[in-house]
Amino acid sequence: AIDIARLRAETGFITLDPGYVNTGSCLSAITFMDGEKGILRYRGIPVEQLAEHSTFKETAYLLINGRLPNRTELTQFSINLNDNSLVHTDLKVFFQNFPRASHPMGILSAMVNALRSFYPSLGTSEEEINITMTRLLAKVRTMAAMSYKISRGHELVLPRPDLTYCENFLNMMFDTPVKPYEIKKEVVRALRVFWILHADHEQNCSTSSVRMVGSARVNLYAAISAGIAALWGPLHGGANQAVIEMLTDVHTSGGNCRKAVERAKDKNDPFRLPGFGHRVYKTYDPRAKIIKKICDELLESMQISDPLLDIARELEEIALKDPYFIDHNLYPNVDFYSGIVLRAIGIPTNMFTVMFALGRLPGWIAQWKESTDDPHWKISRPRQIYTGNQQCDYIPLHAR
Ligand code: ACO
Repeated sequence: AIDIARLRAETGFITLDPGYVNTGSCLSAITFMDGEKGILRYRGIPVEQLAEHSTFKETAYLLINGRLPNRTELTQFSINLNDNSLVHTDLKVFFQNFPRASHPMGILSAMVNALRSFYPSLGTSEEEINITMTRLLAKVRTMAAMSYKISRGHELVLPRPDLTYCENFLNMMFDTPVKPYEIKKEVVRALRVFWILHADHEQNCSTSSVRMVGSARVNLYAAISAGIAALWGPLHGGANQAVIEMLTDVHTSGGNCRKAVERAKDKNDPFRLPGFGHRVYKTYDPRAKIIKKICDELLESMQISDPLLDIARELEEIALKDPYFIDHNLYPNVDFYSGIVLRAIGIPTNMFTVMFALGRLPGWIAQWKESTDDPHWKISRPRQIYTGNQQCDYIPLHAR
């Protein structure tokens, strides 16, 4: 076993905090979280109010610019997003050449990084940087829909200036020449709330990746690409896909929810109940409360009866009464019900984490911008506590 106290004494005053459980990496004025009370606010505004009243576009503006836009600013922001929503046609060739079974998150991360080659002028003035940020918000949405269409062998649907940000995405995803997509207001509302709830979450793994990679002064595309790669992991954004796969497993193997809960408690089994637990929230995730309500309302208005929702509800009920889950403060997080919402909207399971990435994009951009505006912006360079050999001599190959 490693003697941490001895190592600390030998190595000097380096803080060892695996997983940065209690280490602040920056000062930030973007998102406030209280994990004990279950509070989440963007720029001071409770997420519940934004989910009720705001649009995703307006919330994106709020996060990036620090305040809600007035009517003129919002109109201009919409125009800029529309103007930038088309992607270079050469990008299509990239999409088409990924192997068929590629995961959409791998494709998205690579393609966002590739955007730097298509739009090389990043600029340094505030206006030029704003264009790059708007370009990302507009184009990543188009690219996500485009990758879906190509994977299905369907014709691409172009963005339409007469549609809202959410409507446009749904239309680009699901409209086909044979069956025009009918935009339903309850679906738009569910997507709007889903994206608002995911828009920022302070220094989580993907956001910290954006800040850390950005601190080396890479371009914004590369920093966001790193964030997408981090989000892909099943302990982070990939959990929404893992939840649906787990619920499907429980459903197809007879619906035994207690078995899944027992398995999650077994320390000899690496399985954890996806969609449960959070590094910061030690109570019910405020986003989970909202998305659960949206889920119920959406399924009811669409008259969908999804057996996975029944399983999710039962699992939650069992887990919340279980002493292990109570002692470990394990409550549903945002991912627990969000997958059922996405399924009802028609999003394929392997695109769930892409949907999360589209929602998180304004937060990543805001955090990147905040770090670049910081006069004390330094390259991130943590230290370590060395546990390897002390000095030893090189042994020539013939003598080993
Ligand atoms: N199921 C069973 N046990 C769990 C779970 C779970 N979902 N989550 C945590 N635990 C247990 C751990 O085994 C550990 O138990 P121990 O102290 O007896 O050894 C204890 O709770 C603390 O867990 P840590 O891994 O130390 O907590 P950490 O803060 O590092 O991890 C995380 C948080 C990654 C979210 C974790 O709860 C997890 O793996 N959850 C499942 C995956 C998931 O839903 N991720 C989405 C997170 S939200 C988001 O990214 C949007």
